[in-house]
Amino acid sequence: PTTRRFEFNVEWKNVTRLCHTKPLITVNGEYPGPTIMVHEGANVEVKVTNRIAQNTTIHWHGIRQLRTGWADGPGYITQCPIGSGKSYVYKFTVISQRGTLLWHAHLSWQRASVYGEWWNSNVDEVEKESIIYGSGPNVSDAYTINALPGPLYPCSKKDTFIQTVEPGKTYLLRLINAALNDEHFFGVANHTLTVVEIDAIYTKPFTTKAIMVGPGQTTNVLLTADQHPDASGTFIMAATPYITTIFPSDNSSSVGFLRYKGRWNKKIALPANPYYLTAYNLPAMIETAFATQFLNKLRSLDSAQFPCNVPKEMDKRAVITISLNLQDCPKHQTCKGYQSKRFIASMNNQSFVRPSMSILECYYQNLTKGVYTSNFSERPQHPYNYTGTSILNVENHPIHVHGHNFFVVGSGFGNFDAKRDPANYNLVDPPERNTVDIQSGGWAAVRFKADNPGVWFVHCHLEVHTSWGLSMGFIVENGPHPSQTVLPPPEDLPSC
Ligand code: C2O
Repeated sequence: PTTRRFEFNVEWKNVTRLCHTKPLITVNGEYPGPTIMVHEGANVEVKVTNRIAQNTTIHWHGIRQLRTGWADGPGYITQCPIGSGKSYVYKFTVISQRGTLLWHAHLSWQRASVYGEWWNSNVDEVEKESIIYGSGPNVSDAYTINALPGPLYPCSKKDTFIQTVEPGKTYLLRLINAALNDEHFFGVANHTLTVVEIDAIYTKPFTTKAIMVGPGQTTNVLLTADQHPDASGTFIMAATPYITTIFPSDNSSSVGFLRYKGRWNKKIALPANPYYLTAYNLPAMIETAFATQFLNKLRSLDSAQFPCNVPKEMDKRAVITISLNLQDCPKHQTCKGYQSKRFIASMNNQSFVRPSMSILECYYQNLTKGVYTSNFSERPQHPYNYTGTSILNVENHPIHVHGHNFFVVGSGFGNFDAKRDPANYNLVDPPERNTVDIQSGGWAAVRFKADNPGVWFVHCHLEVHTSWGLSMGFIVENGPHPSQTVLPPPEDLPSC
């Protein structure tokens, strides 16, 4: 197998959007960051050099990292951060994955700086507020398509993404939701999209007017330029947030243009009300029904004749409840959450606290004391307690599991019923992915084979929820065969 080598220099770069210039943390000065293209089976080596005055790490979201957990990237989970002026070479192999995945910084809210949306404010400050004061998620100033906000935002007409197409041809669009805190709908006026792949796994193709994609998820679609180009030859494409929260939230949209070659001769009408893009193929912001239907259409390529690898017998089951709560403000502290309280999030009533050393290293060296505890309950302590006054279950949660793909065998709304619901699981062609949407007030059941020894981060990919503690680590212990063990750490692994 070939080894493909890349260099990532993490450095500051001044970028202007919405008439606002500010320094952004970039890779090689590019915004959005560089694309890595490799063939399946390739060995990949990325030398990351930190040229900023703060720590950093890079995560290869969705890469299986079979036995290469040291290259996974989440700070203080599988590695200590790369200090200023230092380098670390991430080495991994791409196995049985094809399609699109994203890479991003995995320390604090640094991924906001790399790409996805535009913040006029200093994201460090926003993050601190959410941790120290338990404040609600500040919204960004604009969503972006390929780092361009588009014409609906102030001072942004010139910064509009334009995709030129030839009539009759079919194009593959790779759609990545790299936003920090919002799920998105994406659609192109007058055109249908054919979904063919999610999270680097092929799906049975199906057509849809729009897709729903959560942060960390990727969706590849085919688009055929089959419209009779009207006078303008231009169609609107848009990414708009899918939001169910009761709290004030962003309701803006990033717009780009699909332009038929040779037909760009007239201005097109932008939506009169930027918040309602339904005329342009997009569902309304709160259309849970659309999102649910869309998710239910996702199926792997398997069939009853050739059923997928979904595990049929379970060795272990866990029930994990996800909650987002309002907590009374600790004495002598200021809270900015809601009604002078602070937000806190948990899995089975435990709010994750980031350790000060890498958990994988501690596990490997047997130094667990004082770093992490392994008493995570596999059952919620108060099952089905959704009625307490302080419990809020009003947001969706895209839950990401590092180092594994899983099969989404079932999902629904209301309380999960351990007697009734498993009878309806799809064990033939469930979608396989690395990030699952848990709809507000709903549940999802996933199955996977714990075949990758190491320590793996499990968390909500809405960054603010991770800050509030909506995460956990899970340890896959070494198997009996030498090929089922964690490899020794690389020599250049950063230390804390
Ligand atoms: Cu895309 Cu833990 O991350």
